[in-house]
Amino acid sequence: MNPSAQPTAEVQSARVPEHEVSPLILNRWSPRSFLERDIPEEDLLALFEAARWAPSASNEQSWRFILARKPEDRAIFYEFINPSNRVWCEKAPALALVLSKKTNAQGQFHAFHAFDTGTATGLLALEATRRGLNTHSMGGFDRDKARSILGISDEFDLHSVIAIGYRGPKEVLPEALQAREQPSTRRPLSEILFEGKM
Ligand SMILES: Cc1cc2nc3c(=O)[nH]c(=O)nc-3n(C[C@H](O)[C@H](O)[C@H](O)COP(=O)(O)O)c2cc1C
Repeated sequence: MNPSAQPTAEVQSARVPEHEVSPLILNRWSPRSFLERDIPEEDLLALFEAARWAPSASNEQSWRFILARKPEDRAIFYEFINPSNRVWCEKAPALALVLSKKTNAQGQFHAFHAFDTGTATGLLALEATRRGLNTHSMGGFDRDKARSILGISDEFDLHSVIAIGYRGPKEVLPEALQAREQPSTRRPLSEILFEGKM
């Protein structure tokens, strides 16, 4: 199935857009079951290429990513990822720590560093979907531990770890997570869009 052409059957039954949007947007969701299957280099690097082309205030491009795909690098990441996430993300063949540089090219505080980095991760996730890959962001990790284990300076904020890989069967997940292994829905547009004033 081409993820850009139409929503998958499970997405169609769970996600009903109020207005027509690219199927890629609806087909992006965050599963927890991953296959222990390596990602071709070209596909993996293309996700960060997509992030690279995100818009950013003053084109500062504050986003940075630390990739862990070798078993020894992933093992280091497991040391700071919360056990509730580790239980499912250990099968994912790639993990990416998302950081942002807090200062601009002039060395002053850059107020949009986190905002722009969020945009970049959105593009990364869409490119993953286009390539038949899935992503699942995790905010549940120990930032202080990650900072000290990976030697990250105070110049950077740590945001999330993204699990990247091919979707696996939900039956391999702990029962509580099996029930959650489905596309989620959204608030109605009327709750998030205002005209003129809030
Ligand atoms: C910044 C961020 C942090 C998140 N942290 C976690 C997490 O620690 N564990 C987890 O299972 N899911 C986490 N998620 C996944 C969200 O719960 C998920 O994106 C949300 O429920 C919407 O579902 P969808 O991505 O399938 O559309 C996180 C997502 C984001 C964007």
